[in-house]
Amino acid sequence: MKGNNPESIKRDIFKKAKLYYQLAHEIKQKEDFTPGVSKINYAGRVYDHREIINLIDSAFDFWLTAGRYAKEFEKKMCRFFKTKKFYLVNSGSSANLVMVSALASSHFKNRLQPGDEIITPSITFPTTVTPIIQNQLVPVFVDCEIGTYNIDPNRIEDAIGPKTKAIFIPHTLGNPCNMDIIMDVAKRKSMIVIEDVCDALGASYDGKLAGTFGSMASLSFFPAHHITMGEGGGIAVNDQRFTKIALSIRDWGRDCWCEPGKNDTCSQRFNGRFGNLPFGYDHKYVYSNLGYNFKITEMQAAIGVAQFEKLNQFIESRRNNFNYYYEHLKPFQDKIVLPRWEKKANPSWFGFPITVKPGINVHSLIKHLEEAKIETRRIFAGNILKQPGFMNVKHRISGDLKIADMIMERTFFIGVYPGLTDKMKDFVLARFKHFLK
Ligand SMILES: Cc1ncc(COP(=O)(O)O)c(C=O)c1O
Repeated sequence: MKGNNPESIKRDIFKKAKLYYQLAHEIKQKEDFTPGVSKINYAGRVYDHREIINLIDSAFDFWLTAGRYAKEFEKKMCRFFKTKKFYLVNSGSSANLVMVSALASSHFKNRLQPGDEIITPSITFPTTVTPIIQNQLVPVFVDCEIGTYNIDPNRIEDAIGPKTKAIFIPHTLGNPCNMDIIMDVAKRKSMIVIEDVCDALGASYDGKLAGTFGSMASLSFFPAHHITMGEGGGIAVNDQRFTKIALSIRDWGRDCWCEPGKNDTCSQRFNGRFGNLPFGYDHKYVYSNLGYNFKITEMQAAIGVAQFEKLNQFIESRRNNFNYYYEHLKPFQDKIVLPRWEKKANPSWFGFPITVKPGINVHSLIKHLEEAKIETRRIFAGNILKQPGFMNVKHRISGDLKIADMIMERTFFIGVYPGLTDKMKDFVLARFKHFLK
């Protein structure tokens, strides 16, 4: 029958998928906003029929594990970051674990040994810290700043002890850290820098992208982030020393770098001697690192490829939403502290952080917003050492964490994601004004 071949069936289904999206999703997305009734999320998926079509396309391929879409996404990210390698993983948390594990790998010449220290801010996300502990390393907590909510760069040097080997810095809420100071200290003290860019895709410092300063950088593609795959993450590897190690740790710790479905990429599959294995032991089953399986599925990558095309537009929209709130909240600076960023920073905002000044009850303000269906979030774990799961972990504190405690008490953020409409933003501002007046 004419037209009855796989490609034309596919095309028909894609057409139908677009129509389905328009009727089932787009109409809902455009539903009228009712102030106080409709929810204003702090973040969320922003997508159209293209993501759905890619997802169906990958289902038709039925490759399932990382395949052509994963390769395409990794290539796009390599180009975006102008980096040596970009590896997809199943979450930002996994990306962080791979990075820290790579620093402790026996294949890294200056590997971090159990008990070695990594400097990191006290205001943080839990899975930025847990990989340090999981690798028997010791986090050294440094206080943070109100305004940027990043590690206080001027306190890093004082935190360095004889066992301190690395700095692990998140760019909080998309606001780049002061990379002049951090990279200068790291260079002078021979410390490795790794970056958590999970919230900061597209942010830059002095014209250079966050994620390209350190040896490696992590990304998250959870729906709250700049682009999503549902779940997902990635590692930008800028430092040649970690390209093989990071891949190995992601892929069960194996020595072989054959892609799924491929054999003998190294042409030495049965010709090597590894560890105490018999000569010629199948390279496919040689494990040179203590690894995990953090690989992504092809369906996730397919969504990511469509999302990537929207990235610049998403970043711009986040910046515009941020600026709108900033301008309209300026008159209330006697009551709230507005966000601050470094002179050379061009943030790619994840949220709009607000610290209330003395005399303003943060709980009442949050309640006032939440009651109007405006979502708020605290700055992740706050001072991580106050969290039940972290109270007894081995750590060192440099100086004190007074500002971190203050941030935990008095700071929260609202969303700036591209799904916000003008009506929503004006309602958020009206609600703030109502309270702050
Ligand atoms: C700064 C930071 N690091 C790491 C993560 C973990 O990412 P994932 O949720 O993909 O595991 C997040 C998650 O939101 C984050 O905000």
